[in-house]
Amino acid sequence: MVDNSQSLVKRIEELKREKNAVILAHYYTTPEVQGVADFLGDSLALSVKAKDVDADIILFAGVHFMAETAKVLSPDKKVLIPNPEAGCSLAESCDAAEFAAFKAKYPGHMVVSYVNTTVGVKALTDICCTSSNALQVVESIPAEQPIIFAPDRNLGSYIQKLTGRDNMVLWDGACHVHEEFSLEKILELRAAHPQAKIVVHPECKAVVAAVADYVGSTAGILEYCGRSEAQEFIVVTEAGILAEMRKRYPQKSFIPAPPVDSTCGCNECRYMKMVTLESIVRCLESESPEIVMEESVRRAAERSIINMVAVK
Ligand code: 13P
Ligand code: SF4
Repeated sequence: MVDNSQSLVKRIEELKREKNAVILAHYYTTPEVQGVADFLGDSLALSVKAKDVDADIILFAGVHFMAETAKVLSPDKKVLIPNPEAGCSLAESCDAAEFAAFKAKYPGHMVVSYVNTTVGVKALTDICCTSSNALQVVESIPAEQPIIFAPDRNLGSYIQKLTGRDNMVLWDGACHVHEEFSLEKILELRAAHPQAKIVVHPECKAVVAAVADYVGSTAGILEYCGRSEAQEFIVVTEAGILAEMRKRYPQKSFIPAPPVDSTCGCNECRYMKMVTLESIVRCLESESPEIVMEESVRRAAERSIINMVAVK
């Protein structure tokens, strides 16, 4: 098994050199996949990187909307996704046609969409955001300007609470991983580890975010765990992040928060785990599946991402 994965890693490195390809990976992929990445990051860092990457091929080790975002930003590059079935329950909760009808009900509203959306929804969006910059993006919009925020209702209401804005309409979508964490079990863990800090992703429900010592994006959580003096953390986000946490801070301990049903493995994103070393080899060898989209949709979507990247 070890030998097999070593030979897959070797083959991936050969293919990357031969084809001038780079691998961008999200922190929620498996540790083996993270190990072959040229760049590992959260959604925001990956979007920024995809824009400037110097290669002929970008292989996106992550979910479909992330690879689409890379293609929107780098249209002249070949963008590959090892498993096109790797979707996202949050992106799927917001169908572009339904969203267009929703938008039509709120004339005069500016649309802020989380990057976890399809290219069709991005094309209907004025400015994208990720969990790293959602607050700055919303604050960059004049207070009197009404906003539609899509698709994550938990991130939307968290930002609404932080900004005190009462002119935000929320799309009713959610991520199947972050919605499933059990408040009861988190409180039990805290009772057993009274010194531990609770770190929570803003895609979680408000009752869970309310008990957090820190709420932030994947990258924000990683940084917080480094600068905090605490030695123990209860981690309320997708469990793939634990690999990077343990690598960066080996002296600290990280306890994954359990979902309501601990037998379901729901604190793992099944889509992110669809990317495997085997699928990366196949994808690089065949240079497929490739992300393709209509140029008019790409251009409309590009504007919303460029507007996001411009917000400091
Ligand atoms: P971030 O990478 O912005 O933390 O988002 C988490 C996520 O759910 C990615 O799909
Ligand atoms: Fe989508 Fe949730 Fe998976 Fe992120 S963790 S890719 S939001 S399903």
